[in-house]
Amino acid sequence: MQATKTRNWNGVIREFQEFLPKVKDDSVVTLREGNTPLIEVLTMGELFERGLKIFLKYEGLNPTGSFKDRGMTMAVSKAKEEGSHAVICASTGNTSAAAAAYAARGGLRAYVLIPEGKIALGKLSQAMMHGAKVVQIQGNFDEALIIVKEVSMMYPVTLVNSINPYRLEGQKTAAFEVCNHLGFAPTYHFLPVGNAGNITAYWRGYKEFKERGVTDSLPKMMGFEAEGSAPIVRGHPIKNPETIASAIRIGNPSSWENAVKAKDESGGIIDMVSDDEIIYAYKLLAREGVFCEPASAASLAGVIKMHKKGIFKNGDTIVCTLTGHGLKDPDTAIKSSDKPITAEPELGKVVELLGF
Ligand code: F0G
Repeated sequence: MQATKTRNWNGVIREFQEFLPKVKDDSVVTLREGNTPLIEVLTMGELFERGLKIFLKYEGLNPTGSFKDRGMTMAVSKAKEEGSHAVICASTGNTSAAAAAYAARGGLRAYVLIPEGKIALGKLSQAMMHGAKVVQIQGNFDEALIIVKEVSMMYPVTLVNSINPYRLEGQKTAAFEVCNHLGFAPTYHFLPVGNAGNITAYWRGYKEFKERGVTDSLPKMMGFEAEGSAPIVRGHPIKNPETIASAIRIGNPSSWENAVKAKDESGGIIDMVSDDEIIYAYKLLAREGVFCEPASAASLAGVIKMHKKGIFKNGDTIVCTLTGHGLKDPDTAIKSSDKPITAEPELGKVVELLGF
């Protein structure tokens, strides 16, 4: 058999350049992020009515294992183009992993502030391995964000949290891919809400495709916060946010108003799900063969909650964004599963333990 040279995906900046701010080609910092699969839900069929199509946008398959890569390629490329030598961010883990990787790729330094003891192990290991300067603060994400904003104003270092406008520009490309894969815009788009950048970015992407005539409808945007960290639902900042979904443990989201706008303009909702509902959906997804991190499962938990309320109609198409890979958070995975059994290396014993 002869090797066939197939097309290599060029990353979101080059693939979607007509929809994104221009970047000089030699400044593009990419790990060929994007082009993640849209996976149809099969085995959970009995949970939902026939005729309902549910798809998972599996963003865990980006180069650093989360959707943040789409925004980070834009933010770091622009920083490089503008002559910056360093980037800084506050993070619940994934932004710091992406910032560290893309900074390394682009030859910039990365500085990251994370809440001590509150980020999943995989994410911490990524920031460390890619050579970022990691500071664990004895506080939460919201406090870390205030500090990095100040630092970026005082020193020559580019802020790459989602208040950097290029981040959301890159992230909106996920909505383009959903429409391209389906051939139309879905009826509903469900996603977890933390700092509220992603729901803002998706809505922008869907609107731009419709304005340019690529699609002819818009989805309802369905955002889900974790119950213990639900400032938008409760209508006020949460001083001490708590949830098992550490990625969305945020009490005062930067894109609060834009998230509310996305909900209002699309006729969607911003609601919340409990940690139990998140873990239920997390395990259900794993049983479907799809491993995501707990925060990501808030999207499917939202679908289950809305299904119980009976909002869906036959023929509706639902997309859930699974924002990060399950391997990011091995601790929660292990805590949520049956323990492995230990056995001596003897056929008889093993067969007995396996229950044959
Ligand atoms: N899911 C995951 C896995 C995340 O890491 C985040 C945010 C979200 C959902 C929420 O997205 O903030 O755009 O509403 N993580 C940020 C971080 C805060 O620092 O990695 P959002």
